[in-house]
Amino acid sequence: MLPCQRHLFSLPKEVSYINCAYMAPLLKTVEQAGIKGVQGKSLPYQVGATDFFEHALRLKSLFSKLINNDDDDRIAIIPSVSYGVANAVKNIPIKQGDEILVVEGQFPSNIYSWKEIATANGAAIKTAAPPKQSTDRAKQWNEQILAAITAKTAVVAIGIVHWADGTLFDLKAIREKTTQHNALLIIDGTQSVGALPFDVQEIKPDALICAGYKWLLGPYSYGLAYYGPAFDDGQPIEENWIIRKDSDDFKNLVNYQDEYRVKANRYSVGEYSNFILMPMLEKALEQLLDWGVPAIQEFCGSVFNPFVDSFQELGCEVEVAAWRANHLVGVRLPERIDIRRLKEQLDQERIFVSLRGNAVRISPHVYNTAGDMERLVGLLKGVLG
Ligand SMILES: Cc1ncc(COP(=O)(O)O)c(C=O)c1O
Repeated sequence: MLPCQRHLFSLPKEVSYINCAYMAPLLKTVEQAGIKGVQGKSLPYQVGATDFFEHALRLKSLFSKLINNDDDDRIAIIPSVSYGVANAVKNIPIKQGDEILVVEGQFPSNIYSWKEIATANGAAIKTAAPPKQSTDRAKQWNEQILAAITAKTAVVAIGIVHWADGTLFDLKAIREKTTQHNALLIIDGTQSVGALPFDVQEIKPDALICAGYKWLLGPYSYGLAYYGPAFDDGQPIEENWIIRKDSDDFKNLVNYQDEYRVKANRYSVGEYSNFILMPMLEKALEQLLDWGVPAIQEFCGSVFNPFVDSFQELGCEVEVAAWRANHLVGVRLPERIDIRRLKEQLDQERIFVSLRGNAVRISPHVYNTAGDMERLVGLLKGVLG
């Protein structure tokens, strides 16, 4: 198994940061790449025309490897999930009576654009809610999602795991049902890709959209998206010069070009050749590929899973292993807990997790140790005991 990689990060010894789902800490190498990028801008005469394109191509190729995509032209560079979703939404014909299926409590960047297009076209947002009871909660929720996909469904917009409580969604079954009904499948991979294996050739999503600053270990404001054949001839949400055909021919930029670059290249954001952020994400993806995503997932399991019994003994609820991933788990706390006081104590002890409603979201990565989890469980024992 992969040994703990904490030495590659700058996290202080006394801090237990079990909150990658909030924001990943930078690897030291990624931080260095960013510093080099900042310094490079002080000597702009060293930035050549090819620098606008080469790193981006490499980035696309690294991301392709991460998600087992065999065509780098299907990857776009995006500043945010909302941007990537907006590009998908702009190119999906939605008509009156159509339904767009989402799940309850889904992250807003994968909601608002859908709401707008539904309202504009007389379509409806259908929300699959989890069952109230805790036994078989995730299994039944998935059954409800599948049952909600019908001939009316135009799109299913969903995550790989629920960002707040970690419920795993059965994307294989969801893809089968959407295909049966000619519905598109748009996935927000932000809370999984990089930590949980995902294979675009197996799931065949129509789009897979990922922010870069969580499980891709990249900087903020720089993410990646895959767009499938349904979007090959679409129109991007903005018209920038670099996504047009032959944009690398700088002397001809004002011989305006009507054609876009092929496939998903047209959905990249203007100024995507960000000389600070681009090399940072490149370094981060290199490291992820070097560790291997299955090894990262296994490592997260070795950190979290030994403590499941302790959580249960304290009266907390943890989803069964088949319906949760190891890197992001929502542990539901007993009703009697005083969340505000718990938050104060966590801050005092410098234990960082997220509190979402009555649940604590625990999201380890390769820099965490059993010691971090022992501190968290010890604190909960003090509060609940
Ligand atoms: C599931 C999910 N999607 C997207 C985002 C970020 O969205 P955006 O890049 O639009 O800010 C988050 C942030 O927490 C998230 O949890």
